[in-house]
Amino acid sequence: MERLREFDKECFDHKISVMIAASSLIGGVNLTASKILIINGGPHKGNTWRLTEEVKKILQSFDQTIVFKEAHLSDVDLPFCIGCSNCFRKGHKTCPHNKIVQPIMDLIEESDAVVFSVPCFQGHLPGILKNFTDHMAFMLHRPRYFTKKALVISTTGGVSASSTTKALAATLSGWGFNKCYQLPIRALSWNAYEPTKKDLKKAHDMTKKFYVDVKSGKIHVPSIGVLIPFNLFQAMCVENKGETDYPTEDNYFWPKYSGMRYAPGIPMTPTKKLLGWFIYLIGKKLSKSMVITYIE
Ligand SMILES: Cc1cc2nc3c(=O)[nH]c(=O)nc-3n(C[C@H](O)[C@H](O)[C@H](O)COP(=O)(O)O)c2cc1C
Repeated sequence: MERLREFDKECFDHKISVMIAASSLIGGVNLTASKILIINGGPHKGNTWRLTEEVKKILQSFDQTIVFKEAHLSDVDLPFCIGCSNCFRKGHKTCPHNKIVQPIMDLIEESDAVVFSVPCFQGHLPGILKNFTDHMAFMLHRPRYFTKKALVISTTGGVSASSTTKALAATLSGWGFNKCYQLPIRALSWNAYEPTKKDLKKAHDMTKKFYVDVKSGKIHVPSIGVLIPFNLFQAMCVENKGETDYPTEDNYFWPKYSGMRYAPGIPMTPTKKLLGWFIYLIGKKLSKSMVITYIE
């Protein structure tokens, strides 16, 4: 029962955030001050943080009313995800590290947009950020953040800044983020990067796109990559074959979206709705035979 209440509240909070976003729009411009959270996903304040500070200055030059908050993952001592799968099966609040993860989730919830500062390590996310995203992986099953926008910044020594930003952007879409902008930059440096004129121009142009979108309050039609997990998990987590023997939190989450091909308040084109139904039907077929087992 408590669980159901928690879900009702989350659903309610989502509807409220969509209503607030809509009510503060006049002539397509959001009149309230934008709240932007900056997450430092690197283990230190190096090249990527330097570029992120430039992006912050650019944002301030556009709009001095922006309210910034910062979260530095290296400050929070988050232990490794131990793979207990409690978050998937029993709800994220049963994660042994929820006390550390929840405040960051709350900061994301309270913001309009998030800037992620992500150094490229071996062509991918640094371990400290990968560990954080592992703790949030349950959101690939139970997405939220449907009105949020992100800007992912990465610097690399030579190659793979783009694959780093793409990797995080794909994860954020799975969590429900509405739009994700990317700023991959080749720094050619070990911790002594000074952004060049060319890099600053690129940063300016991408930051402008991000800012204009955040300020407009526009909610975008979801991409196919977002529709697939939403509709597959919805179909596979209601009246599925394993529901009785192997119930999970997903079974409690999805009924509130019954009949919806995406979250309420998010615009959908007829084609995307049709596609959503098609994915849903594939999921329904799979749900009749597929059983995901577990032991306590
Ligand atoms: C552990 C580690 C892995 C790295 N992997 C790559 C890589 O795959 N490709 C690359 O071009 N540079 C790589 N580099 C260089 C960094 O991407 C580059 O110096 C980047 O600007 C670091 O950002 P930071 O100072 O914010 O940590 C690596 C550096 C470290 C410390």
